[in-house]
Amino acid sequence: MEILDILGRRWSPRCFDDKAVEQEKLQNMMEAARLAPSAMNEQPWYYFIGRKDDETYRKIFSTLVEFNQLWAIQAPLLMMACGRTKYVSRDNSDNRYWDYDVGQSVAYLTLQATYEGLFCHQMGGFDTDKTAELFHLPEEVAPIVVIAVGYMGNPETLPDFLRTMENGPKTRKSLESFIFGSDFGIPYQF
Ligand SMILES: Cc1cc2nc3c(=O)[nH]c(=O)nc-3n(C[C@H](O)[C@H](O)[C@H](O)COP(=O)(O)O)c2cc1C
Repeated sequence: MEILDILGRRWSPRCFDDKAVEQEKLQNMMEAARLAPSAMNEQPWYYFIGRKDDETYRKIFSTLVEFNQLWAIQAPLLMMACGRTKYVSRDNSDNRYWDYDVGQSVAYLTLQATYEGLFCHQMGGFDTDKTAELFHLPEEVAPIVVIAVGYMGNPETLPDFLRTMENGPKTRKSLESFIFGSDFGIPYQF
């Protein structure tokens, strides 16, 4: 099937080169993140960006579960994506789309990164309470995902079990299993 080249090239590696991410490429990624659509145009996303060896990086890294720390340490950039859970435009009422919207913004960022020759690996395995504390997040702001960003590294640098995962098959559900027509479970006929 003919899909966008960047969609086909994107995947989530666990090995990263130590080459730094150029400032301009990072800015392009963040511009892409900024352009994402959102409910009521709230743009409820916030990002913390840590560069290897700076304080933000250390803080984000310290929130990761051990499994993620094992490989994410190679990444030259670590980002923490957060979202505002309440609408500013609707008197602080709950925004049921806040994480949906942050996810779209991260997807835009990730695809721009792919376009720039970079790779992203998103992580839900981190301590949200610790994050809120370390970054003094306001009560209505919640952390949602950590993103490791960098150039592709050499899988040989990874521990055996991670290297095996790196070379494993990339699986996806079939179209029929999730695209429906007349009723739930009835595959849509293209
Ligand atoms: C919200 C979210 C949370 C994830 N959490 C983790 C994680 O904690 N650790 C990890 O190694 N990968 C994590 N992943 C990566 C997924 O496992 C990966 O995207 C999925 O297996 C598909 O592989 P691909 O991105 O290479 O196509 C996460 C991905 C997303 C979108």
